[in-house]
Amino acid sequence: MRTASRILEECEKSGIDCEILFPKTLRYENRDGRYLIGSEDVEPFEVTPDDTVFVCRSSILDSTKASSVVSDLERAGFFCVNSLSCLEVCDQKYRCYLRLKEQGIPTPKTVSLPSVEIQDDGTPKKIKNIQQYVNMVGSQFPLVLKTDQGAGGAGVMLVDSPNSLVSVVQTLQKVDPKIDLLLQEKIPYEKDLRVIVLGDEVIAAMRRQSKDGDFRSNFSLNGDVTPENIDDQTKQLAIDSASATDGIFVGVDILQTSDGEEYTLEVNASPGTEGIEKATGNNIVSQFIDYITDKSNWTNLREQQFKLTGESFDDKFENYLEETVGKHFNKSLMVRRIENSRIDESTKMKKLMKMRDNGDIFASLCLEQAKSKKLINHVSDWKNKMFENFCEQNNVSLKSALEEKRDKYKRAFGENWKNVYYEEKWKKYNEEYGYDDLEGTTASAVKRMSQTPGEPMYDARLEKEKYK
Ligand SMILES: Nc1ncnc2c1ncn2[C@@H]1O[C@H](COP(=O)(O)OP(=O)(O)O)[C@@H](O)[C@H]1O
Ligand SMILES: [Mg+2]
Repeated sequence: MRTASRILEECEKSGIDCEILFPKTLRYENRDGRYLIGSEDVEPFEVTPDDTVFVCRSSILDSTKASSVVSDLERAGFFCVNSLSCLEVCDQKYRCYLRLKEQGIPTPKTVSLPSVEIQDDGTPKKIKNIQQYVNMVGSQFPLVLKTDQGAGGAGVMLVDSPNSLVSVVQTLQKVDPKIDLLLQEKIPYEKDLRVIVLGDEVIAAMRRQSKDGDFRSNFSLNGDVTPENIDDQTKQLAIDSASATDGIFVGVDILQTSDGEEYTLEVNASPGTEGIEKATGNNIVSQFIDYITDKSNWTNLREQQFKLTGESFDDKFENYLEETVGKHFNKSLMVRRIENSRIDESTKMKKLMKMRDNGDIFASLCLEQAKSKKLINHVSDWKNKMFENFCEQNNVSLKSALEEKRDKYKRAFGENWKNVYYEEKWKKYNEEYGYDDLEGTTASAVKRMSQTPGEPMYDARLEKEKYK
């Protein structure tokens, strides 16, 4: 609730309309493609995918109604932060663990314990053969026992021996027969970090330390919080973890040991902001608002209204540019995340293919290019090479140089400037890099351009003021 109030406060400061809707009293109507939403004390008002962002907190999962509404909104093309799928993955620790594993992210070995068996007298049975689960974790006692759902450190405990494990499990199951429990290796960590990822950047990081010897260092348990400068490797781990869970705004818990190992413990899809704002002294919420009100950052899986025409890749690419003008969906974020993720190449391909099959044109353009190169990696290498060369040659920061160029083209070619701009760009690349260098790499240029002047997503950022 504190984060919601902070969001409201920051929106008021910037003159952005903002309403807090409580999941349980939500009122919603999809009337012939018009979306009306409100709650007990907020008279339903109309929203469109072009003028509204939904900031979804984990509490929507407590209400089937609210999660159904968010699912409908996502299908209608609304930008929801975080997405329903992200909230769901992060809500359950075991699911989050499996996802991190799948994506090749180091995380403490975790085993799910069997559900309770109730005896005739109503008491839970002792777990049989506990040793088999301990063996699966493959680590010495003490081990960490946690409830599958839980936050703020509540539900996380340390067990010293097989006997204490069995008795604690039985007690917990007696209190709540529906409880799901996890057994996890204990990481002898030196530092417990909370890293905030927004889009694909780390915007803040803090270290958390318990003051009373508790092995849990959560801020909610009164842990001390201090700002922490994290290196590129840790940043990348946080970004990869966010991307593994499809998170746009998430808090990644990272444990670091003194010998330089690091593990993502979990990803929080509804990160608190009090601790991190206190630790860093930064206005995290206003950064978040800036990000989500910038339409160039909007992502939605269901932007699939058009089909590409043209025979050759270049024709299709041209068509892509034409079709996407005026649309504000950040295709590149998702593709970029897939390309940069730690999963193997064939899984990357599969993910891109799934996006393509869902009608995602950007993914299909990338695939078409990746096919000729076999490895998508090459595409990003090329992107970096181009980026570096450009900076070197122009001896200026990329952004300002391109901004200048964009204005020049606009002045010279009026409404048609984008076509000219791209055509010339391709010509220049062809001359400079030769056919071999360029082969199979157009996709990366598409990607890069999504962050450069001339591309609709970039333009949207410049037009931002209009929408405020
Ligand atoms: N496997 C582990 N090894 C060492 N410390 C752990 C482990 N799991 C949890 N902790 C400690 O407990 C805290 C809370 O655990 P976490 O899994 O993040 O649950 P919550 O969702 O309640 O924050 C962590 O920040 C960390 O300090
Ligand atoms: Mg945590």
